[in-house]
Amino acid sequence: MIKNTLIQAVEVGAKELTRFFNGTFTIASKSSINDLVTEADHASEKAIIGLIQSQFPDHFILSEETGEMASLSDTKWIIDPIDGTINFANGIPICCVSIGVEHKGEMILGSVYNPFMNELYFAEKGQGATLNGRPIKVSNKDSILHSCLVTGFPYQYLDSENGPLQVFEKLVRKAIPVRRLGSAALDLCWTAAGRFDGFYEHKLQAWDSAAGFLMVEEAGGKVTDLMGNAYNPYQPGIIATNGFIHDQLLSVVNGGSL
Ligand code: IPD
Ligand code: CA
Ligand code: CA
Repeated sequence: MIKNTLIQAVEVGAKELTRFFNGTFTIASKSSINDLVTEADHASEKAIIGLIQSQFPDHFILSEETGEMASLSDTKWIIDPIDGTINFANGIPICCVSIGVEHKGEMILGSVYNPFMNELYFAEKGQGATLNGRPIKVSNKDSILHSCLVTGFPYQYLDSENGPLQVFEKLVRKAIPVRRLGSAALDLCWTAAGRFDGFYEHKLQAWDSAAGFLMVEEAGGKVTDLMGNAYNPYQPGIIATNGFIHDQLLSVVNGGSL
């Protein structure tokens, strides 16, 4: 039942993305001038929350634009109504709806839907990950020097030691391809699908990674924080890989050389 609701929820959200895409919609800034929220983010969020609450009125909801709708329930829905809002606002079809479902503190379900590529990702704890119903698996490359990586950058410049630009520079100086799609949820799903060998990012929020990190784990990959500890979506850093290059990427992110 909850699985069906999850799929319906990403679908009703995605319907709003397709309705507004390349049309006219209002855009506002949040934490900085380029941290945007559009009319479509709000419409997607409203449709998703309405659907979930019609079926599970007591569940806890954490959604990017609304914040927490707290309850005593053990089940929490973690919603990003559009991941990749800057892409969306510019008519770039690399964006999605992302929803994770946590039960007693453990992520049990996740789904990410990019309607513009007709790609629906789904993962269930212990049951694997799928793309449009077909099982997906991480890649098997075992050298970071031969890997294709992906990352993202925060809305505010992070000038810390081993920060986003320093790590990016080190990898690029070795001519390692590091893509930047602009949607952390899709970065994770594409890593789960074996398109990328690894993903890292320094400053994410729980709604960016809730569904995607489960996708990578269920596709056979490894996900940790930037120190290599067990991943927790309520802290900022993430390294998600096929498992084989994990320690190599972890070392680079922590100042190691290539
Ligand atoms: C952003 C995207 C981007 C990542 C940012 C996120 P939003 O989410 O996932 O790839 O680099 O850190 O905030 O704002 O488009 O929902
Ligand atoms: Ca996001
Ligand atoms: Ca968002």
